[in-house]
Amino acid sequence: MKKLLLLPGDGIGPEITRACETVIARLVADFGLAVITAQGLIGGAGVDAAGSPLPDETLAEARTSDAVLLAAVGGPKWENIERELRPERGLLKIRAELNLFCNLRPILVHPPLTAASTLRPEVIGGLDILIVRELVSGIYFGQPRGIETADTGERFGYNTMRYTESEIERIARLACEFARKRGGRLCSVDKANVLEVCELWREVVTRVASDYPDVALTHMYVDNAAMQLVRDPHQFDVMVTTNMFGDILSDLGSMLTGSIGMLPSASLNEASAGLYEPVHGSAPDIAGQDLANPLAMIASLAMALRYSLADAENADRVEAAIVEVLSACRTGDIMAPGLDRVGTAEMGERVAHALK
Ligand code: IPM
Ligand code: MG
Repeated sequence: MKKLLLLPGDGIGPEITRACETVIARLVADFGLAVITAQGLIGGAGVDAAGSPLPDETLAEARTSDAVLLAAVGGPKWENIERELRPERGLLKIRAELNLFCNLRPILVHPPLTAASTLRPEVIGGLDILIVRELVSGIYFGQPRGIETADTGERFGYNTMRYTESEIERIARLACEFARKRGGRLCSVDKANVLEVCELWREVVTRVASDYPDVALTHMYVDNAAMQLVRDPHQFDVMVTTNMFGDILSDLGSMLTGSIGMLPSASLNEASAGLYEPVHGSAPDIAGQDLANPLAMIASLAMALRYSLADAENADRVEAAIVEVLSACRTGDIMAPGLDRVGTAEMGERVAHALK
C-alpha cells in the first residue's frame, strides 16, 4: 500500500484538493488504486493553525509518504508577516528538505484547448515541451543573502546565484534521460554571456550530454529562450535550466497552453519520492466560490501515479479522462461556446465519471 499525503494549503487549494479526492476515491473503488491518503498543513494554513508555514508534523508525514500532492500556498492575509513565516517559505523548505532537485513542468497543449491560448493555433497547436527546472539551489537558496545597511547609511539587498558541479550534473543527467525517452532534443538555458555561474552550468551540461550521443544538445541564453518560446515553441523538446530561469520560463510556457489552470508539475529527488503540484497559485480572488479549475491538480495526481506510486495504468486513465471531459465541459478560465460551464466540484465529478 502506497501513502499519498495531501496538502491543500491556501486559497483555492482546499476546493481543488476535494475535486481531486473525488477522482482518487473512484480510482480506489473501481480501478484497483492501492493508496492511503493523509492530510497535512502547509503555507498560510500552517501559520494560522500551527505557527509555521511548514509544521514539523507535515514534514515528518511527507518524509514517510511515497508522494505528496500540494495544491497551493499564499494569499494577501500573509503578505506582510515576517519573511520566515511567509507561506512561500513552507514550499521552499519542503522542496529543500526532501531534496527535490528535479522539477518537471510539461507544457502540453491539449487539442480541444488550442483556441484557449492568446497565441495563434498554428504557433501552439500540438505543442509538447518538458521544462526541467533545477529546484533546490541557485539564487533561491544561495548564501550569502540579505538586506543590510552600508557604512554610508544606504541599505542594499543581495542574493547569490551559486551552483556546484554536482548540482548541475545531476539535473543535466536527468534532463538527458528525459530527452532520450522523448524527442531526443535538449536545450540548456543559461546566461553564460554574463554570469560565471552559467559558464560553469554550460560546461557541465555539455560534459554530461557527451554521455548521451542520441541526445542533440543546444544552448540558449534565457532572454532569447523567452522570445523563442513565444515565436516558435515547436523548436523545443526538453529544456533544462536553473531555478529562477525555470520559474520564469514555466509561467511563460503555461500561457502557451491557454490557461495556467491546466499545468501540473512534479518535483523529484534521487529516490523516486516526489512532490506534485499545479504550477498555478492560490488564486485568493476566486477562493471558496467553486470557480477554480481543478484540472492542473488532477493532472498532478496523474504525474504522482506515474513517477512515485508506480501505477502508470491509472496515470494514463486519469490523463485520458481529462482530455475527454475537455470536449464536454469547462471551468470559466477556459470556457468555450457550446460547452457546459461547470464549477470546481462538478469538474472533479466529471473527471471521476470519465475514468474507464
Ligand atoms: C513556483 C512558484 C514558487 C517558486 C513560489 C511560490 C515560491 O512561483 O512554483 O513556480 O518561485 O518556485
Ligand atoms: Mg513560479
